[in-house]
Amino acid sequence: ADAIRINPSILAADFVNMQADLARIATADFVHVDVMDNHFVPNLTFGPQMVERIQATSPVPLDVHLMIADPDRWAPGYAELGAASVTFHLEAATDPVRLARRLREIGARAGVAVKPATPVESLFDVLDEFDQILVMTVEPGFGGQSFMADQMPKLASLADEARARGSQVWLQVDGGISASTIAQAAEAGADTFVAGSAVFGADDPGQAIAALRAQASA
Ligand code: DX5
Ligand code: ZN
Repeated sequence: ADAIRINPSILAADFVNMQADLARIATADFVHVDVMDNHFVPNLTFGPQMVERIQATSPVPLDVHLMIADPDRWAPGYAELGAASVTFHLEAATDPVRLARRLREIGARAGVAVKPATPVESLFDVLDEFDQILVMTVEPGFGGQSFMADQMPKLASLADEARARGSQVWLQVDGGISASTIAQAAEAGADTFVAGSAVFGADDPGQAIAALRAQASA
């Protein structure tokens, strides 16, 4: 593969020492920011006010993952506060293409995410409407879950389709990514890797990022 990206998830960071934890991942490509509304997923994190402070503090650009209901209404606000990318869930969106166009208009990369049980064939004809597609490798909602290797065929089908269409779309995986699982995802065609516990659970997050990078490029 060409360029790969490692995006640590601050879901595994210390929420009351966010500034210090952000400083520890300065060698990452993006910081992955998990917004949960206790409705689309059974967990709650934070909303735009917190993300705005993260945006002001982070040494790297923001990759916002919205696990929320009604993204058609709420996602543009995250693009407006300056997030580099905003990813909403296909299952939650009323008009995914229209929303993606709106996000791009504001200046963000537009991303769409799919839960493990959601097929991706409906995206094949609209790949170019998105800058990134996120294939969840756990059920969204919590960090520290086990990587679902059974999502690799779906990821590979997206990679094949993107290749066949000459699409530049980034393929992202999120959930259970570690030094021992990342190579499988890279092999299946992912180029952008979210890792929470594997980065913030390490004594040296910078070293963990480097190790993930090495495994993904191997
Ligand atoms: C899960 C979140 C992930 C989470 C990943 O719903 O979307 O971004 O932080 O955590 P790990 O890497 O620990 O599986
Ligand atoms: Zn996430």
